Formats: sequence, C-alpha cells, structure tokens
Amino acid sequence: MSSTRRSFLQTSGATTMLAAAAQAQTPKGANDKINVACIGLGIMGQGDVATAVTVPGVRLAAVADVYEGRLTKAKEMYGKDIFTTRDYREILARPDIDAVIVAVPDHWHQIMACDAMKAGKDVYCQKPMVQKVEEGAAVIQTQNETKRILQVGSQRASSILYAKAREVIKQGMIGDVRMVEAYWDRNSALGAWQYSIPPDATPQTVDWDRFIGHAPKRPFEPIRMFRWRNYQDYGTGVAGDLYVHLFTGIHYVMDSNGPNRIMSTGGLYYWNDGRDVPDLMMGMYDYPETKAHKAFHLGIRLNFAAGGGDSSGFRFIGTDGVLDLAVGGALVLKRKPKDSEPGHTASNFSKATAAEIVKQYQTKYPAQKASADGMRANSEQRWVLPPGYTEQYAHHENFFNAIRSRKPVIEDAVFGLRAAGPALLSNVSHFTRKTVNWDPETMVVKG
Ligand SMILES: NC(=O)c1ccc[n+]([C@@H]2O[C@H](COP(=O)([O-])OP(=O)(O)OC[C@H]3O[C@@H](n4cnc5c(N)ncnc54)[C@H](O)[C@@H]3O)[C@@H](O)[C@H]2O)c1
Repeated sequence: MSSTRRSFLQTSGATTMLAAAAQAQTPKGANDKINVACIGLGIMGQGDVATAVTVPGVRLAAVADVYEGRLTKAKEMYGKDIFTTRDYREILARPDIDAVIVAVPDHWHQIMACDAMKAGKDVYCQKPMVQKVEEGAAVIQTQNETKRILQVGSQRASSILYAKAREVIKQGMIGDVRMVEAYWDRNSALGAWQYSIPPDATPQTVDWDRFIGHAPKRPFEPIRMFRWRNYQDYGTGVAGDLYVHLFTGIHYVMDSNGPNRIMSTGGLYYWNDGRDVPDLMMGMYDYPETKAHKAFHLGIRLNFAAGGGDSSGFRFIGTDGVLDLAVGGALVLKRKPKDSEPGHTASNFSKATAAEIVKQYQTKYPAQKASADGMRANSEQRWVLPPGYTEQYAHHENFFNAIRSRKPVIEDAVFGLRAAGPALLSNVSHFTRKTVNWDPETMVVKG
C-alpha cells in the first residue's frame, strides 16, 4: 500500500470504526479460498465477477438474479456447479459464502447490503451506495454493528492516477485549489442507457415482484427492469449513477468529505424515450475549508446530449497551477511562472525601447532569458497509466485483501455516503428548484 493511501486511511474517521470492527474478525489465511456470490449478474455484476475471480484465491460459488436468463448465463460462464437462485436470501443463508457482490438496481442496494452484513457476509456494494440519502445511516450503522467489511464499488478511489493527483495536490504543486471542474459527456444509445431487452423476458422468466421490491407496484413491463436507470423508482438518474464517480474521484484526490451547499439544474432534451430523469445536468457545490484543504468550488456537468462522443475528466485549478485528469488516461500538470519571473512585453514597443526593457529585465532577473514570456505555463508534467492497468482490479484486490486482513478498505460506508450524498441531493435540488444544505461531516441534510 502506498504511503499516500495509507495516510488517507489513517486520517479517515470511518476507518477508526472499521479498524475496531476488524479486530473482532477471524482473518482468513493467505491460502484460504474466499467464496464469493454475486447478487445481480447483469452488466456490472458480470464485470465485477470477471475481475474478482482474477484475484488470487477468489472463486465464484453462487449467483442470485431475478431473471432466469442471467442464471443461465452464470452457468454458461462459470460451470453447472455454480449455485443459482432467484432469491438472494438463499445465498445469504449459505455458510460457505464469505462475501457477496451486490450489483442490482440502486433501489435494492441498502436492503441487500445490510441483509448481507447481518448474515455475516463481507460486501462489495455497487455505487451509489444508497438510492436515497436517508438510507445511508443504516448502512454505516450495520457496518459498525456487524463489523463486516463493506467496499463501495466506485473503483476510482483505487486508481493510481487519482493517487498521483492526490499526491501532487498534497505537495502543494498547484498551490491552493480554489476550483474544481468535472464533466462527463456521452451521447450514444448505450451511453444513454438504452440497453437490450431480452425477447424471452416474460412473467415466467422474470420474478417481477422481487425486482420491484419496495418500489411502487406496477404490472409487468420489461423495459422498466432492463432499463431501470431511466426511472426514478429504481435508479438515481445521471447524478446518482454517474456524478457519484466524479464525487468519489474529487473527494479522494482532495482528501475532502464533501460540499455543504448544493445547487443543481438540468432537463430532458434528447432521449425522450419515456424516462423520467434528466439527460443533462449541471451542478455547483461549495466545499468548506477543512484541515486538508482550503474552501473551494466545484462545477459539474453531465451531458447525454453532447454530440462529441464519450469523454470524462477533471480539472483541479490552484493558485499556482492546474492539474487535468482525463479519466482512464493521463494526468497533466501545468504550473504558472513564478511571481519572481514575471516576463516582459518588450516586443510591443519600438526597437530602442524594447532593447531598453530587455536590458533592464536582464539586470533585474539575471538568471532568465531575455525572451521570457510571463503568460505561459513554464512547465508541463504528464503521467500516463501503464498499459493494461485497471483500477477495477485494484479496487477488488483492496476488498479481498481486507477480507483476509480485516484491515480497512479504501471506500467504506462513510466514504460511500459522502460520495453518494451530494450526487443524490443534486437530484433533490434539480427537482425542487432549491439549494440544498448538507453537512458533510455528519452526513445530514440541513434543509
Ligand atoms: N462501478 C461502475 O463502474 C459501475 C458500472 C455500471 C453499473 N454499476 C452499478 O452496478 C449496479 C448494476 O448495474 P447494471 O448495469 O449491471 O444493471 P443490469 O440491469 O445490467 O443488472 C442488474 C441485474 O440485477 C438483477 N436484479 C434486479 N433486481 C434483483 C433482485 N431483487 N434480486 C436479484 N437480482 C436482481 C437484474 O435481473 C439484472 O440481471 C448498479 O447499481 C449500477 O449503478 C457500476
């Protein structure tokens, strides 16, 4: 573990809780197998399992899913001996299961994560940790009481690119960060969540009532299940689904607990396919000063109606420089010239005057070139991810290491709620047309 990451873990309030919790667990030996089960083997569940089983000592033992086709897929991918069921509680009742991956629609996250921890399982819970801010306290409390490991699945917190950004900022290389910009643009049918609806989806192959759960009862309508993100009853819109990754990244890089003021707006402009969530949102957030950072402001945008393809990134803007992070790509640091090297604008003047300005400049700043231009960044540094690197693997490895060591994970329930909170409250601000005040320390809405 890097010293950056270690220092983060040591300073997080939540980790104190987890560290205490971990003492009560019996660590698994380095050679003990970890039996994992997946609840919800859809797009991400399949991705999570594919990654998890590449971590040494981890094997998939069981899958729960309410759609029969996904149980068939489980056996196709992992063999006929995989235990499958439509009812996730059957998995929680099995003593041979050590950990579960919760990769179901958002309205099930809190219930399943808590049920799993109460059943003695460690949990990798997909983001956003909860569908509604008010559900977060129960996850934190259950993690505390059951002393289980819970890792929230917003994998950027484990990325070495973000760790480098955090280090650059901690070292003061861009001065005091006073502004952060984050964005995610994508405009394609799949980018906008128009996923395939399997032709064999019927009330016989789908346990519709189990999918609906505590959401409002409705007759069978497969589009709502296979494109659940497009409906407020099950998903969390672009803010809960995608901002949450951006908040995870910002909070990790800035060592921040979150904003205290949330203002958000948006609309549905392009994907008029019956969805009841916006396809474009923008938000403004005030981050108060803490021990770790000065007060700063965040501007976010997410645009499914952007014609330029898929791109996402961050800009950390400091008094001495700017750090650009392109998601999945590179980190670029640009620093302004030192105030002691101001440059000159001699070329705007007559030859004789220009020569005199250059002469005076060189006398005052002997170490500098006469042609110094004070407007441009005087250095650029770049870090690029090594080929084959995946933060997804790093995040799962962090989870499975924690299961063995009972040491804290990088993204526990407190981190998860602090990332989900401002994302979910962006929806509240948008729909109520009001500013939302949030206490990032206590994680409660202030009205
Ligand atoms: N970390 C990431 O980068 C990332 C990326 C994509 C999705 N996700 C998250 O993963 C989760 C799943 O998203 P997805 O894209 O895989 O959705 P999906 O619709 O492809 O898969 C969800 C699966 O859950 C099943 N399911 C629904 N209700 C269930 C229930 N009550 N019990 C058991 N199974 C149930 C569905 O049949 C489906 O197979 C979401 O929370 C999403 O936000 C995270």
